[in-house]
Amino acid sequence: MSFGFPTETIKEGKVKVVVPKLSAYIKKPSDYAPSKAPVFYNPTMELNRDLAVLVLQTHQKLLGRELSVCEPLTGCGLRGARFAVEVKGVRKVALNDINPEAVKVAGFNAELNDVADLVEVANEDANLFLSRYAAPRKRFDYVDIDPFGPPVPYMDSAIRSLRNGGLLALTATDMAPLCGVHPRACLRKYGGVPLRTEYCHELAVRLVAGCLTMMAAKHEIGVKVVFSHSIDHYVRAYAVVKYGAKVADKSVQQMGYILHCFSCFHRETVTGITSPLKRACPSCGTKLSVAGPLWLGRIADKNFCSLMEKEAKERNLRQEKRILKILALVQNEAEAQVTYYTVDKICDKLNLPVPPQKKVLDRLRKEGFQAVLTHFNSRGFRTDAPASVVREIVTKLTA
Ligand SMILES: C[S@@+](CC[C@H](N)C(=O)[O-])C[C@H]1O[C@@H](n2cnc3c(N)ncnc32)[C@H](O)[C@@H]1O
Ligand SMILES: [Zn+2]
Repeated sequence: MSFGFPTETIKEGKVKVVVPKLSAYIKKPSDYAPSKAPVFYNPTMELNRDLAVLVLQTHQKLLGRELSVCEPLTGCGLRGARFAVEVKGVRKVALNDINPEAVKVAGFNAELNDVADLVEVANEDANLFLSRYAAPRKRFDYVDIDPFGPPVPYMDSAIRSLRNGGLLALTATDMAPLCGVHPRACLRKYGGVPLRTEYCHELAVRLVAGCLTMMAAKHEIGVKVVFSHSIDHYVRAYAVVKYGAKVADKSVQQMGYILHCFSCFHRETVTGITSPLKRACPSCGTKLSVAGPLWLGRIADKNFCSLMEKEAKERNLRQEKRILKILALVQNEAEAQVTYYTVDKICDKLNLPVPPQKKVLDRLRKEGFQAVLTHFNSRGFRTDAPASVVREIVTKLTA
């Protein structure tokens, strides 16, 4: 079939799909081919799609029933085709894109993979599309929002289109606002203040989750973040929604602020949505900077991640090694302290040579503190030791 523009067939996971031939859209080195092509396709998001497949299968197994799935911003339909082909127990995949060319390609790809009976493809605005399903017995078990930039414009209709117990996946690629380069944009979009700290990617996940929490609470819906990750230039959060004012209240209670001292690395959390009053660092007296309101609850569920791990081992994914590494790290840090440190940042600030990170972790453990690595940053670690102890240990190790 011809689409009137250059295409090629690629393989990803267990599907074979037609996508725009990206090499035809690079005229100069700075060109970003996925956005130049008539239909969106980004090969570098394979890992993102792999993890989504694992999450959806885990969700299906935990629910123990057949699922209806929605991807309202589908592009070439690759993610949707993978859900239909690779996830057992999916009875329907509702795809949509505002771009009519994308709809043609996504429909063709469903046929190419023999899942046209499961997959429907629509052509309208994502919010309109989702709103059509925001009624009892029409709602989805899983909605995947994978937009350009922030997921916020689609969050409300996605929440309304989810069944009780459904799972919402959110990608955010607007890292400049979320990581504090454009704080006003972050406050406008996500309703929380970011900070340019070494753990800004974790703050990004928490700001996305916080925005979701407050939006869901308006509908008396609570959220539980079951998995999240930060890879390359985006963050992704997966949250199960539960209907009910009480569970919504419980989620809102997990909102709060992170207070950070840029002088001595001290950080603390303040739970509650009202503005924190304590503004001077208890350790060094410097005025504390504030991030939030944002989600202070868990950003991953250990059990959910271990089920994902099991799924990953059964699938022969191209990036299995990287996926297993991410899942092990996320699991390991799921219940650890909010925020992490990096040895580099401490040494940079204190003008010290950088000691091996392993030595710092060993010493912390030896002194009776918890110390775990984080998937957010290969040079990062979480600990329950106060910043003063972390600084002291790093300093001693460089002496
Ligand atoms: C980042 S791409 C999606 C990539 C896809 N999820 C994947 O995994 O390959 C975003 C898509 O959203 C579509 N889009 C943008 N605005 C939209 C809107 N208001 N309603 C529906 N689709 C929209 C674009 O045409 C594009 O295909
Ligand atoms: Zn301080």
